[in-house]
Amino acid sequence: MSNATASMPKIFEGAADFMPINGTDYLELYVSNSLQAAHYYQTAFGFQPLAYSGLKTGVRDRESYVVVQDKIRLVLTSPLNSNSEIGMHLDRHGDGVKVTALWVDDATYAYEEAIKRGATSFMTPTVEEDETGKVVRSGIYSYGEVVHIFVERKDYHGTFLPGYAKWEPEYQPAAIGLQYVDHMVGNVELGKMNYWVDFYKNVMGFTQIVSFDDKDISTDYTALMSKVMANGNGRIKFPINEPAEGLKKSQIDEYLEFYEGAGVQHIAVATDNIIETVTAMRNRGVEFLRVPGTYYDVLLDRVGEIDEDLEPLRELGILVDRDDEGYLLQIFTKPVNPRPTMFFEIIQRKGARSFGKGNFKALFEAIEREQESRGTL
Ligand code: FE2
Repeated sequence: MSNATASMPKIFEGAADFMPINGTDYLELYVSNSLQAAHYYQTAFGFQPLAYSGLKTGVRDRESYVVVQDKIRLVLTSPLNSNSEIGMHLDRHGDGVKVTALWVDDATYAYEEAIKRGATSFMTPTVEEDETGKVVRSGIYSYGEVVHIFVERKDYHGTFLPGYAKWEPEYQPAAIGLQYVDHMVGNVELGKMNYWVDFYKNVMGFTQIVSFDDKDISTDYTALMSKVMANGNGRIKFPINEPAEGLKKSQIDEYLEFYEGAGVQHIAVATDNIIETVTAMRNRGVEFLRVPGTYYDVLLDRVGEIDEDLEPLRELGILVDRDDEGYLLQIFTKPVNPRPTMFFEIIQRKGARSFGKGNFKALFEAIEREQESRGTL
């Protein structure tokens, strides 16, 4: 499924695009209770029911619910018995992203190119078929236990993938305007950022488009380093964070400790009306990080004129940042798991293609207040 990237941005022109990717196909989360997780993502995030796989489709070892909103598909998977690979993943990490599936025209070619360039195989090219056509999938390992699965679906016309039945429950709360995955951030171990930057460069043909160091992203206590990798057409953007030296434990350290390794830190999803989207999410019980009210006292001095009224932004806690090309509005949920690990970002871009650097300090101080309340700072 493609992203809403209008034209090819200049910053991506240097990319050696031996690995064309059309967009994010789906994200599969391993969760401890797929039935309840599906209910949560429907109720709180406005996802719509799409497909099901499990006992009722003849699958005996796992159950998956697939939910969709515009171009975003989440697969929520739980094991049906002990001693499973999924169960061990959950035991180690808690709920989290296992698969970032990338939509390609040729999953065999993508796999062979990646393997030739040094990737570790997760799944050799495999044809799956049903009465509506065939899908070819293949997969490679990324950081931690995260995998990328290449999905070739040009000859497929079914609901989601072979093996899945249409899921049509009566309960279908309204969507809230989430459109596509804007970027997906990984936290990797201290000293490993450049290793994974090189991986995306050499194995996947991505280009580094932005870099932040501890001078950009630091507070009195904590710091992190980040580099943003993007594929040739810019539809896939993977910022990679590693902890940097600080006086106390950084939010990346906290993540790595509780996730017990590298993994997906946040999924940023785009909307074209962040005020409506965040209002709906708040009404549905989603909790967001809050910055102090003083952030808004100086906001317009910092970012200049914006289309939105200041009041609803202040009321909802939405952040704004500007770069050379325009501005963006963004807000971050609190972690969606008992462990302080994965969270979501809601982002609305108005020309800006950056990531909200001007908000980092205010944001990190807000995260630190949360860490303090958890006793992990
Ligand atoms: Fe982000």
